[in-house]
Amino acid sequence: MKILFVCLGNICRSPLAEGIFKHLSKNEQIKADSCGTGNWHAGNLPDRRMSETAKKHNIKLKSRARQVKSSDFYKFDLIIAMDRENKNHLMNLATSDKYKQKIKLMRDFENIYSNSNSNLDVPDPYYGGPDGFEHVFTLVYKCIKNLISYLEEKN
Ligand code: 4NP
Repeated sequence: MKILFVCLGNICRSPLAEGIFKHLSKNEQIKADSCGTGNWHAGNLPDRRMSETAKKHNIKLKSRARQVKSSDFYKFDLIIAMDRENKNHLMNLATSDKYKQKIKLMRDFENIYSNSNSNLDVPDPYYGGPDGFEHVFTLVYKCIKNLISYLEEKN
């Protein structure tokens, strides 16, 4: 099982999701990675503000940014976009229905037991203040906890 978290720049939201997943998941069979729909930050470490927010919660972010590539659609089983814009971008890149079905929104996992697609975004914190990073942390942490429960139930 391989999960790919996707945002725009791959320096804030999706590296956080990858870091929280790796921190919380006890299942070594499930691999996590992250990437961006854009390539401006390729090769960079996560944004310092995001890393510092994660560090306050004892989570270290170590990924290097990369852009999504076509092989990701067959390599990964679940592709989780941080917002609707990233999801639409991925849907346009996916070349088959099978690939499109792998694409979900992060906040679809916010209330997994309500059984509805949220259609809500993890907001982009890049141009905002420190509160935005903490808000993103809270949202993503909750979604990842639920995602892990969902994966455990499925197995
Ligand atoms: P991310 O945040 O998509 O959560 O990594 C952003 C990072 C950089 C930019 C936008 C969003 N940017 O425009 O450079």
